[in-house]
Amino acid sequence: MIKNKGLILSMDVVEKQKAIMIAEETCDSVDAIKVGYPLVLGAGIGIIGELARYAPVIADFKVADIPNTNKLICEHVFKAGADSVISHGFPGRDSLSSCIETAEEFGKEVYVVAEMSHPGATDFFLPVAESIAEMAVECGAAGVVAPATRPDSLKRIRNIIGNELKIMSPGVGAQGGKASDAISSGADWIIVGRSIYKSQYPKKVAESIVAEIESVTR
Ligand code: XMP
Repeated sequence: MIKNKGLILSMDVVEKQKAIMIAEETCDSVDAIKVGYPLVLGAGIGIIGELARYAPVIADFKVADIPNTNKLICEHVFKAGADSVISHGFPGRDSLSSCIETAEEFGKEVYVVAEMSHPGATDFFLPVAESIAEMAVECGAAGVVAPATRPDSLKRIRNIIGNELKIMSPGVGAQGGKASDAISSGADWIIVGRSIYKSQYPKKVAESIVAEIESVTR
């Protein structure tokens, strides 16, 4: 995925027409649109191909199964038109490698959840985040997902993965994280959902977030 604006829109609306309308409005300000279970369950898997007309689509299915099931999920996602998929790392190296091998067959990418952004991530995730980030490097992932809500974690994870792998970082806005802090702490992209799609003016909000990103990158 190409880094340009530094913003990924998380499209967690559940209606096809609303998703397409917001994509039309915001596509000039985003590098990708992330879709997950809410929209795909609401609108069907065809929504991936529809949104891919506006921006590359990241399928956030947090894939977390045995290798064969992961392969089947990734095949579906890439055939539907997704540019990349988000996978969990905790099921282990063979499960992650299966996602990455499948992505390579399609010329696509896998991003691995290293540490989640919500408060409950402290229950189990924090102690394993660094090991998952190391595994993402060793298995050949394109990048990791790491929390904008914990800039210190972002810095630590950036140190582990080096500069070749990318970081996409959710938790800005509704979850309390700040776009400029996340980018300054090592994120390549921030992922923003509710602050944009729940706004009356999604285009304006997306543009103002891009301006904030540019304030620390230019
Ligand atoms: P909001 O509305 O909070 O949406 O801006 C954030 C989006 O990102 C997803 N999310 C995560 N995905 N690791 C992930 O892979 C995370 O730690 C994480 N935190 C939030 C969330 O599902 C929503 O789509």
